[in-house]
Amino acid sequence: MTGGHREFGQIRGEAEEFGQIPPQPDPNPATLSDMAVNVLTTADGQAKTALSRAHAARWFAARAEGRTLPIGQARPPDRPARPDRPELLPPREMPKRRPGSAAGRIALLHAIAHIELNAVDLHWDIIARFAHIPMPTGFHDDWVKSADEESKHFNLICDWLEAQGSHYGALPAHAGMWRAAEDTADDLLARLAVVPMVLEARGLDVTPGMIAIFEKADDADAIAALSTIYAEEVHHVAYGSKWFNFLCGREDRDPKEVFHLLVRRHFHGALKPPFNAEKRAEAGLPPDFYWPLSETDRPPA
Ligand SMILES: [Fe+2]
Ligand SMILES: [Fe+2]
Repeated sequence: MTGGHREFGQIRGEAEEFGQIPPQPDPNPATLSDMAVNVLTTADGQAKTALSRAHAARWFAARAEGRTLPIGQARPPDRPARPDRPELLPPREMPKRRPGSAAGRIALLHAIAHIELNAVDLHWDIIARFAHIPMPTGFHDDWVKSADEESKHFNLICDWLEAQGSHYGALPAHAGMWRAAEDTADDLLARLAVVPMVLEARGLDVTPGMIAIFEKADDADAIAALSTIYAEEVHHVAYGSKWFNFLCGREDRDPKEVFHLLVRRHFHGALKPPFNAEKRAEAGLPPDFYWPLSETDRPPA
């Protein structure tokens, strides 16, 4: 090398300044909000989930020593960074595939990988976006744990896709996944109502049917991955209802009424039965929360 020795970091910094390579995330952010923004601004799926898991491990290592890392404040991006692939299409333009075929099963789990990656971002986003609202440390524990689990879910599904000769990005995916986050960016109660208590609860309703599809296909790996997801998603819904109830209690408001008001205001469309009443109950969601928001009447008890 001629022209004297320069540190690699310096060269990298100059290259970043000239926009030749994207800025590299800080591997050791000082606060939990910085960690969240670090994940949200990382585009590649594998890199995003690796950072997400590393930050979660740091948070919980400190907690195990009786310490809490500072929450801090950081500005999350309006939309998280995403890879070039998959191509994002409006739902009506998504190709229809039969779940009975191998290609249909790949398309189904490709869609799940997309949902899981979005969920990683959603859990870090709630941490950074609402960092100005004082919350007990348990709130942060719950969402860091959820983000870590979503990262694991994404990786599990990616492993399965790769074992089938496919990969995340090989097919188009649903555009508009971030809409719920945008619609609830100014209101923590609305975010909790719409994301964990409506969208993730919907996951509890539909996952047993997906597991049945892979049972029919005798696919043990897919069944194992979906069973892990199913077991862990109950907790994410439960964290949602726990903190929703907490905030309503703190503001002396009736949780059921507030839930109905906020879902009607921020969620587009009616909730779709059949509901998984058992898992919803386990997650702290009683029937009088969701039935009045459905398009059909509640069946007689
Ligand atoms: Fe998940
Ligand atoms: Fe989840």
